[in-house]
Amino acid sequence: MEIAPLGPGFAAELRGVTLAEIAADDAAYKEARAALEQHSVIVFRGQEVTDEAQLAFSRRFGPLEITKVGSLGAGTNLVILSTIDESGNVVPADHRLALRNKANQLWHTDSTFKRVPALASVLSARVIPVRGGETEYVSTRLAWERLEEVLRKQLENSFAWHDYAHSRGKIASDLASAEERAALPPQCWRLAWKNPVNGRNALYIASHAYAIEGMEQAAAQKVLGELMDAATAPGLSYVHSWRKGDVVMWDNRATMHRGRPWPAHEARLMVRTTISATEADGLASVRPPSRQAAE
Ligand code: OGA
Ligand code: MN
Repeated sequence: MEIAPLGPGFAAELRGVTLAEIAADDAAYKEARAALEQHSVIVFRGQEVTDEAQLAFSRRFGPLEITKVGSLGAGTNLVILSTIDESGNVVPADHRLALRNKANQLWHTDSTFKRVPALASVLSARVIPVRGGETEYVSTRLAWERLEEVLRKQLENSFAWHDYAHSRGKIASDLASAEERAALPPQCWRLAWKNPVNGRNALYIASHAYAIEGMEQAAAQKVLGELMDAATAPGLSYVHSWRKGDVVMWDNRATMHRGRPWPAHEARLMVRTTISATEADGLASVRPPSRQAAE
């Protein structure tokens, strides 16, 4: 396995290894896992991508999330991001499927709004537009390390509230359905996630974060906005341009990502698997003290 750095201080391509080898072989898994802990985004090219191969690879890293109500693929382990309707036509720009993709174009971290947040996500491209449709990443570990020490001390002991309906509301007020709102009550997490392998903190916020515990709303919005701007400033990202056979895995504890736009008349279909965080992934470090005793 060869590891080739890709981005500004994070992200790397793993060469000379297949998803199937990592799924089947302990030594290959350990190397890939170490690369994920270190580089936060790992890229595989030229893979034979099927749902089964993606699922088997992803399961190696931990328990898979069950896709939430209201998503394509609900109740399975596959999130399907598609702009193609049941008849095979590309949907118009104001269609729910297109709006959901638009919501994914906000900087975010997957599943911060779930009862169990995500360790990592694995994404493969199945239908790729001719232009655009890249996925862009920033390191929230490096974002954390760039902050002033005094601010880091404050944030380390602060907690943010995350809500799926909040991020969807930025695109359309009814994009999160009543069923989704009922299934996904707001969640509270520490603003820093400490990686238990290397001890490094990462800023834990993104598009679903709408409030800071104990802080007045306007002040919290300002803090969250400034942290987001600093984390995503120009020159800090790795942009992945999709080719057939590509698979990208990212550490949701240490990155934010967003989809990039593409011409609306062109189809795009992506498939994601998501691995839930466990105690071994540092989950206790983000839980508010009020919940630590209970769980
Ligand atoms: C995701 C996601 C962005 C994209 O699958 O979690 O945000 O480029 N995707 O489709
Ligand atoms: Mn996402």
